[in-house]
Amino acid sequence: MNILLLGSGGREHALAWQIARSEQTEKLFIAPGNPGMQSLGIVVPEIGVNDFEGIMRLTLHEHIDMIVVGPEEPLVKGLVDFLHSRTELQHVLIVGPDASGARLEGSKDWSKAFMQRHGIPTAKAKTFTADSRSEAHRFLQSLQAPYVLKADGLAAGKGVIISESLEEATRELDEMLDGRFDNAGAKVLIEEYMHGVECSVFVATDGYGYRILPVAKDYKRVGDGDTGPNTGGMGAVSPVFFANDKFMAKVEERIIRPTMRGLRREGIDYRGFIFIGLMNVDGEPMVVEYNCRMGDPETEVVMLRIQSDFVELLKRMAEGWLADYKLEIDHRAAVSVVMVSKGYPGTYSKGMSITLPLEGTDTIIFHAGTKIDEEGRLVTNGGRVLAVSSYGSTVEAALRRSYNTARQILFEGKNYRHDIGQDLILD
Ligand code: AMP
Ligand code: GLY
Repeated sequence: MNILLLGSGGREHALAWQIARSEQTEKLFIAPGNPGMQSLGIVVPEIGVNDFEGIMRLTLHEHIDMIVVGPEEPLVKGLVDFLHSRTELQHVLIVGPDASGARLEGSKDWSKAFMQRHGIPTAKAKTFTADSRSEAHRFLQSLQAPYVLKADGLAAGKGVIISESLEEATRELDEMLDGRFDNAGAKVLIEEYMHGVECSVFVATDGYGYRILPVAKDYKRVGDGDTGPNTGGMGAVSPVFFANDKFMAKVEERIIRPTMRGLRREGIDYRGFIFIGLMNVDGEPMVVEYNCRMGDPETEVVMLRIQSDFVELLKRMAEGWLADYKLEIDHRAAVSVVMVSKGYPGTYSKGMSITLPLEGTDTIIFHAGTKIDEEGRLVTNGGRVLAVSSYGSTVEAALRRSYNTARQILFEGKNYRHDIGQDLILD
């Protein structure tokens, strides 16, 4: 079949790598894609993920049979609803929820209320607007530090603020209510802080059945030892030892099944991935957030560990026929170390020339922020540049491979964390 994958990051490079491996794939198009994907399919840089008309034209012109949506923004903006509404596209399979399902990520207020309606364990929270500012201040004062504030809408990963001081939290709250995130912050959630260790659980669903993909952990802070500002993700590891059978049985019983049941009861036909950000609070899983797509850089390790035909999985998710799909997982560990530009997640330069070493069979360099410049050189084009992903018989062995390659990758201002996965190495 002909497949169109939407997106341009490391996540999409990893998805493309799996899709290209399947014997079912005839032609793979990736829009807008990045240079790393050129060996896997046809990259269409002129069509962006929010160019609904362009996506439709490409789909018709290239006889696309299935569209796979990588990032959240077009899902929240209703790309799937748009595609479903076009009679000429009725035959096209789509992996990704419509706008009603994408509210799991697109509105933190809606998703919190969804969890409350369906008894899904999560931190207590209340939502406020500029009109209820004094109640918001009072509620904040009634809580203990650290304080958690969340802008309701999509805010490019910057909408969550965690503050140790009441004074700072109050200032942040006022700024959010005053429009720092435009409409995304018109509503602000004030939430109880949960103490624990996080992991990312990915569910592939056709709206009824589901498969749980390998659990991963990501590393969000820019600096070693979890210091410095939050980023889009500095690395990822799978498996996660504390997500053992006992923990995952609780996750399935208390979180995944009620989520699926809740979506069905509310008439939401969800065909896509649900990313559940979990906090392990003394062995008890609590939901930090839902996302309506795969995670980045988690996908760069999760894709490495899927052995069964991934296109078959995607096809069945879209068709509503997941029931007898047999998901096979590679028993090896997978890790990804993200190479970033100096200054990221603040300001950074672009256009630095990149030298890549040869990839070994157990390491894959997924591209994120790269491009080919006018002189035909591969250069940096973003904060997160490359995700160096490796297999290993253990997490430690996989890390050794990724770090070996990371040392050999050269570009000016190259930065990465040196302690990815250290907390997951079992002695
Ligand atoms: P989110 O975008 O909701 O995933 O939030 C970003 C990050 O903030 C999460 O990955 C957590 O590390 C942290 N976080 C969010 N909500 C909470 C909470 N209630 N308690 C503790 N940490 C939180
Ligand atoms: N790794 C976190 C995210 O994709 O949102």
